[in-house]
Amino acid sequence: MATTIDELEKRREAARMGGGQKRIDAQHAKGRLTARERLTVLLDPDSFEEVDMYVEHNCVDFGMESQKFPGDGVVTGSGTINGRLVYVFAQDFTVFGGSLSERHAQKICKIMDAAMKVGAPVIGLNDSGGARIQEGVASLGGYAEVFQRNVLASGVVPQLSLIMGPCAGGAVYSPAMTDFIFMVKDSSYMFVTGPDVVKTVTNEVVTQEELGGAITHTQKSGVADVAFENDIDALLATREFFDFLPLSNRHDVPERPTEDRWDRIEESLDTLVPPSAATPYDMHELIRKVADEGDFFELQPKHAANIIVGFARIEGRTVGIVANQPMVLAGCLDINSSKKGARFVRFCDAFDIPIVTFVDVPGFLPGVGQEHHGIIKHGAKLLFAYAEATVPKITVITRKAYGGAYDVMASKHLRGDLNYAWPTAEIAVMGAKGAVEIIFRGQTAEEQAERTREYEERFANPFVAASKGFIDEVIYPHSTRKRVALGLRKLRDKALENPWKKHDNIPL
Ligand code: HXC
Repeated sequence: MATTIDELEKRREAARMGGGQKRIDAQHAKGRLTARERLTVLLDPDSFEEVDMYVEHNCVDFGMESQKFPGDGVVTGSGTINGRLVYVFAQDFTVFGGSLSERHAQKICKIMDAAMKVGAPVIGLNDSGGARIQEGVASLGGYAEVFQRNVLASGVVPQLSLIMGPCAGGAVYSPAMTDFIFMVKDSSYMFVTGPDVVKTVTNEVVTQEELGGAITHTQKSGVADVAFENDIDALLATREFFDFLPLSNRHDVPERPTEDRWDRIEESLDTLVPPSAATPYDMHELIRKVADEGDFFELQPKHAANIIVGFARIEGRTVGIVANQPMVLAGCLDINSSKKGARFVRFCDAFDIPIVTFVDVPGFLPGVGQEHHGIIKHGAKLLFAYAEATVPKITVITRKAYGGAYDVMASKHLRGDLNYAWPTAEIAVMGAKGAVEIIFRGQTAEEQAERTREYEERFANPFVAASKGFIDEVIYPHSTRKRVALGLRKLRDKALENPWKKHDNIPL
């Protein structure tokens, strides 16, 4: 007998109830939304089209054949964010703790495959107890199927993970391979092994939050990008963030109308750099004054804050911003900032997002710890990322550009398209004092002071580099937005290809 519309309604209603009212109430009691509520906030009203609502698990062990919930713990489908297509999955903690079964994994894989076919981003809302314990290896296989797709999708469509509950064990590796991870404070955690296992193996006592909470991963480990106060904040920020991203590597960057004049002059930038070279200033000020409407979405603001990365728009089009931050470690490059910068530069290059780099860098951070933890390899990541990038690259040196760090930060020699310097720029092998102590070792203090003055006069300016063509123009700070905007316009059709290779071998 054919099913009636009533029957369809009943089945839909049952699926929408997930694991039932009691478990929904428990989810709410933890301050968390359900999977479907989250999608309602994330997507444009009425845009969500669900698929696989009636999929059930196929497990017959441990009495599972009598416990079935339509959807099997994950809500999947597609919708729009401000009118642009996105594929989504949201794990439903009310069904077997959102744990991943073979069928649950198949559902995720189906929407990832669809996203790849049409060229649209994938956003995953993670809230799961990990592998469905009753299913054993079938669940592990399911994870690996998802992992494989994460890798194939990398650089083809943007992938975003929101961690909104537990994410533990091997389950962490799917988000880890996506482009960006957002977490919710006091409500989400990620770790490979939890506090109990840690205690057994290493005798360390640690809470879930300390081991893998949102603060830990956005400040210490750098595993995640941004921590939000609650589900709603995280989802609304994701909508805002999504607007910066191209849909795929086949699509152009998004463009939106702006009232902000491309040639806006910012007189205050002429005095941004303090007269004393040792006095810091906030590089955010320059970024905001250059960006359309001062709008800047910063990633990893609390991790390796000596480098700033994030998205802005110029003339309505997305650009990636990378900037040294003189307020933190004097803007030195160290292990963490090199890794943070490199991954961001590679994302921009993969998705054809132009990169604007603001430079004030006294060099790589000295120290035994840095050397022993491999600053050589990690610093090389940033160098490699900039050197391989073929997107438009515009660089503005505001003050220091010393030593190897000068080369690394999108210099002319790494195929920088437009390399500008402010009059306050100092481009040299190192700071004057350090240089004099080496080349005039043995001279008296007065003599060294004199040599330092000479060195400063000779090198603490942008004109030596400009005389060699390493700097295209020394610009007025107040005209930075105008020069960058003009440069980006001219570079819009830039064509540059690297030699054919299977893939490169970035120092990992
Ligand atoms: C099946 C699970 C489950 C799982 C939770 N549930 N995790 N069912 N497989 N992995 C079920 C519970 O039985 C319970 O069912 C419901 O989900 C809610 O769980 P609670 O424990 O009541 O919730 P809470 O107290 O909030 O604790 C959440 C939790 C805990 C911390 C996630 O459930 C937990 O520790 N789960 C096991 C985690 C785990 O060891 N997973 C395997 C990791 S190994 P009822 O019916 O009572 O509502 C792994 C390998 C992946 O993931 C490898 C990939 C390569």
